[in-house]
Amino acid sequence: MPKPLVAGNWKMHFTVPEGLRVTEELLHHLHPYAQAVEVVLLPPAIMLWEVAHALQGSGILVGAQNAWWADQGPFTGEISPSMLAGWCHYLLIGHSERRQLFGETDEELNRKLKAGLKHHLEMILAVGETLEEHDAGRTEEVVTRQLRAALFGLEPAAAGHLSIAYEPIWAIGTGRAATPDYANSVMGMIRELLAGEFADAGQVRILYGGSVTAANAPSLMEQPNIHGALVGGASLKPEEFARIVQAAAKVQTTPA
Ligand code: PGA
Repeated sequence: MPKPLVAGNWKMHFTVPEGLRVTEELLHHLHPYAQAVEVVLLPPAIMLWEVAHALQGSGILVGAQNAWWADQGPFTGEISPSMLAGWCHYLLIGHSERRQLFGETDEELNRKLKAGLKHHLEMILAVGETLEEHDAGRTEEVVTRQLRAALFGLEPAAAGHLSIAYEPIWAIGTGRAATPDYANSVMGMIRELLAGEFADAGQVRILYGGSVTAANAPSLMEQPNIHGALVGGASLKPEEFARIVQAAAKVQTTPA
């Protein structure tokens, strides 16, 4: 299993100068953990290039929050994986806000996944159920559908460049994180599904996302099926984000 991954999704926050100030602060706080944990910042597209340069040589990586699948063309407002290739390390796709607010479908995500992999980006695919689906006991069915559709037709080698973020939608931005046991059990199901898709499924990290904080990170990170976190709100606060990364580093260095 690769080292844990903690990604900070800034969503649509910060002006460019603010984002660069936060990056400087993060560099200071994250420095001690950059070896033990793969730390990725996902700033808005407008500041991606600047943040990537500010992070150069630090071991902290940068990723995009979304991209289209074509290399170029008449797609107003979009960025392409070929524009990210060579300097941007990660690409997040399928965040529930993209699915719900911008109507992204599982089939589109399959195309985006293939396009990102083609350009050698490390991919994070987000999946998760709504509150209604959760309450109706449909979590497994929904997550299975999302995964099967998005992973359809991938090469076996994709496993080495893929992470799955399990983010129950009812936990995102609500302050109501899933319990560690619940998250761990759904992620165990995801692990089994991946084993059916890839010979090398152990390479795929499964992250938890949804109201991760410095307070709940230690109990989430110690779950056997959780290999990192996708952090929204708490990633906007450098000290708190660093404590989440520290929790991941601690599990990594504590013998089982
Ligand atoms: P949150 O967001 O940590 O603010 O709940 C997580 C996410 O949307 O990735």
